Amino acid sequence: MNLPKQVRIVEVGPRDGLQNEKAEVPTAVKLELIERLADAGLRAIEATAFVSPKWIPQMADHGEVLERIRRKPGVSYPVLTPNLKGFEAARAAGATEVAIFGAASEAFSKNNINCSIAESLERFRPVVDAAIAANIRVRGYISCVVGCPYEGDVKPQKVAEVARALFDMGCYEISLGDTIGVGTPGKIQAMIEACATRVPADKLAGHYHDTYGQALANIYASMELGVATFDASVAGLGGCPYAAGASGNVATEDVVYMLNGLGIETGIDLDKLVDTAIWISSLLKRDSASRVGRAVAAKRSK
Ligand code: HMG
Ligand code: MG
Repeated sequence: MNLPKQVRIVEVGPRDGLQNEKAEVPTAVKLELIERLADAGLRAIEATAFVSPKWIPQMADHGEVLERIRRKPGVSYPVLTPNLKGFEAARAAGATEVAIFGAASEAFSKNNINCSIAESLERFRPVVDAAIAANIRVRGYISCVVGCPYEGDVKPQKVAEVARALFDMGCYEISLGDTIGVGTPGKIQAMIEACATRVPADKLAGHYHDTYGQALANIYASMELGVATFDASVAGLGGCPYAAGASGNVATEDVVYMLNGLGIETGIDLDKLVDTAIWISSLLKRDSASRVGRAVAAKRSK
């Protein structure tokens, strides 16, 4: 078995998780969530998205969130920036890392960011140039790396092309998003193998939504091919009852538990993470989507 010794987890709950919440989440709760996650040992916490408040009202307080985080040394707080307008606002609020987000499916690109894949790459280029000039790291996301809610199956070759374009532009890492969680280990490995011919495997990250319960298996399958960075969301936050096929990211607790069992280091305190998951789930009045979180909570209450 050739698995990595260490895995880096990028916590995306405050952004990917909360962008789908129907109820308004107060800025103070977002800030407390981010700070609790840092206390639990997360070293990369995606804090918010500098996107249009008309498109995603849940992220409308992006400037305030980023400005008010009590930053912990050694922790990065990346934010999404789809265009120069978003980048400039993020920079003004103190961003030290940003992420651009494209897709491997034309229809998803149009629906998510209102432009074609080619247009999105043109839009991202000045963002990456400005970020690099300001010493700000840029991560690149690709959505729909296995399947698209509008177009169905997505070809690994298409994902690899977009990955290469984002990497050549200057992204330090490419996060591969199974946006609707339809991937299975074989499909994920075929997609990663295609990408790894264009971008080194250690510059790839897995971003797996858990709609069909395949995310942990997909993470394991990705580790077998040398991927050692995974995005995850505390309590499996995310999911939209009106978007068929969309559920939250794999729960951070589930990933940490699996990696602990494999003897792979993450630097994350599972107990503190579970406490955070219980706290945010109760504030959001929802059950945690994490099997591990529910099991730990049940054991504690005995
Ligand atoms: P657009 O309408 O094509 O943009 O939106 P526009 O340049 O024509 O501007 C239209 C209006 O938006 C203008 O305002 C702009 O000022 C404003 P108006 O004059 O009408 O009052 N605007 C902005 N406002 C704030 N921040 C900005 C910004 N840009 C323009 N940055 C745009 C294009 C990209 C902005 C829009 O489509 C958008 O905000 N999309 C965001 C979609 C989104 O956030 N999706 C979720 C995140 S991606 C994701 O979840 C996938 C991921 O998790 C991986 C995976 O799972 O697959 C990353
Ligand atoms: Mg996502």
